[in-house]
Amino acid sequence: MYRPEPLLPSPSVSAIDRSHDWNSSARALASGDQLLVTDLYSTGLNTLAALRRLLESRHPDLRDFASEREFRGDYQRASQNLLAPIKSQQLALDKAPEIGWFGELYRDCVDFLLPYPQIQGLNSSWQWYVKGIEIPVLHRRLFPFYGTYFPTRFDHLELFDNWLQNYTGPRELACDVGTGCGVLSLQLAQAGFARIIATDSNTNAVESVRRELVRHPPGCEVELLEADLFAPRGEQLELIVFNPPWLRGVARSPIDEAIYYDDTLFERFFDLARSRIAAEGRLVLLFSNLQLSADSATPHPIQQELESGGRFLLVDHKKRQVQKASAKTRRRKRDPTNEFVELWELAPANSC
Ligand SMILES: C[S@@+](CC[C@H](N)C(=O)[O-])C[C@H]1O[C@@H](n2cnc3c(N)ncnc32)[C@H](O)[C@@H]1O
Repeated sequence: MYRPEPLLPSPSVSAIDRSHDWNSSARALASGDQLLVTDLYSTGLNTLAALRRLLESRHPDLRDFASEREFRGDYQRASQNLLAPIKSQQLALDKAPEIGWFGELYRDCVDFLLPYPQIQGLNSSWQWYVKGIEIPVLHRRLFPFYGTYFPTRFDHLELFDNWLQNYTGPRELACDVGTGCGVLSLQLAQAGFARIIATDSNTNAVESVRRELVRHPPGCEVELLEADLFAPRGEQLELIVFNPPWLRGVARSPIDEAIYYDDTLFERFFDLARSRIAAEGRLVLLFSNLQLSADSATPHPIQQELESGGRFLLVDHKKRQVQKASAKTRRRKRDPTNEFVELWELAPANSC
């Protein structure tokens, strides 16, 4: 299972507690020293707040995109130098939150350290896992496992829901490529599909959906697979759905693979999809204009396929303006005014 890498205690790490000046600790972190918090969880949070202030003062024009990116890079690097101790599957600090992931993901480790940002990520993820995320199109909550992508905006899911309501094709077998926390598979189950194959290349996502299916059996057969795009072999598919990563870039961790696509992903996807789709089948992709609005020189991968791939033809294209994320789960402060989500329905080229 994917987890933040545990670090071994080391004599080169200096201990800090509430008696230390947060600003001087922040300066030490920024210059590359590693510090270990030894008393209160809040000592670490206050030190990170001081680090943020210090780095903000070094990047005064945060409205400028390049400067903001530099600030974020500096903060990410320096904050990794602040460490917390974990002993016997508990954060060994006073007034620390309960994070059940230590018991789930670190059974093989007794005494180790983790950088504070990873602890914060584990903590948020545990809260989401315990409380669940309300998914309006499913009329219920999903409980994403650590390291699994889950939606915080729902416009694309509503587009898919509307599409499913008007879908008149067969409902025997669909494939949900890159299932994440399983939301599209559960929409397909809700729409009456008899069998669904759900794949993801991220082990944690597969575990997330496995738990979800145990928690709430969907009333149809769901075959879960850890796979690169498609199962290695199998029947022809009546419907293939894929909500791919929306930004071109480099994934540095399994969770990043939900966000960033490399130069080969769409070519490989369309090639395999063409060989797996039934003659009268449909391919549905959910996408957005995010990449295009960040960099208009990058080709839109679905338009590119339609213009020159020769494997699929356009059946329908719907788009919708994005609403603001819910305040509880908001991850980014993006202005959604010019952001659109898209649903692309394609058919294999020689069947039209
Ligand atoms: C944007 S998320 C969508 C998740 C989910 N389907 C949804 O709509 O919320 C993209 C998902 O595709 C998965 N993924 C990325 N590359 C993949 C690949 N080559 N094979 C299988 N899954 C992949 C990621 O791990 C992630 O779970």
